[in-house]
Amino acid sequence: MVNEVGSTNSELLEHADDYEHGTVLCAQRQTAGRGRHQRGWKSQNGGLYFSVLLKDQKDITGIYPFVLLSALAVVRCIHACATHGVAIKWPNDIYINHRKVCGILAESSTRGNTSHVVVGIGINVNNKVSHLKDLRHPAVSLSECKEGELNLNELLLRILDELDLLYADFQDNRFAEYLPELNRLLYSKNQEIELIFGGETRLITPIAFTRDAKLQCVEKGVKKEIFLGEL
Ligand code: BTN
Repeated sequence: MVNEVGSTNSELLEHADDYEHGTVLCAQRQTAGRGRHQRGWKSQNGGLYFSVLLKDQKDITGIYPFVLLSALAVVRCIHACATHGVAIKWPNDIYINHRKVCGILAESSTRGNTSHVVVGIGINVNNKVSHLKDLRHPAVSLSECKEGELNLNELLLRILDELDLLYADFQDNRFAEYLPELNRLLYSKNQEIELIFGGETRLITPIAFTRDAKLQCVEKGVKKEIFLGEL
């Protein structure tokens, strides 16, 4: 755990040669935390901000199931704080009772025919966020769901243990075994919502995650599968 860094994602990606495959970088705060769609990610003290480096990936789209499993790892570890209303909003945000508690940003850099990938996870833990008005989505932190502060190191270690287990299963091609659990957690299942993809905000009805981590949904009466496509 370092005190401060611009962005744990950027640090690992820009200096990937200096880090081993599987390195986890966690910071107490980020001065330039990054979110999806070129947005920032507020990263003051009290939140958990970390990234995992996966080096030398031949097929980066093949990593998407693991990115979704990363969301599952977080969900499994926050169930102790919030037993109801926890859901994964496509592509891999975590909500508690319609308020965002965790965002995940997967990024890559490609050299020749291999890529380094980082999976960056930001969780509102002891930081107070539910009063913030300048966010795109209402937010909540784990300590706002439960009396008392959480121990960040313990939470990090629990999530990393889950990630290890899920990564091993992902590598053994066992992602599909997690689909029932993931689909029970799917946010707004069978109910129309606004989602951003392909650079636009669109109205879609989520139905299920697929075996290749796409989202099966209905848009304007047409059934389709949408893909994150952001790495
Ligand atoms: C989003 O919901 O837009 C994704 C947010 C991802 C934030 C995490 S915090 C750790 C890692 N480092 C970053 O700069 N971003 C990710």
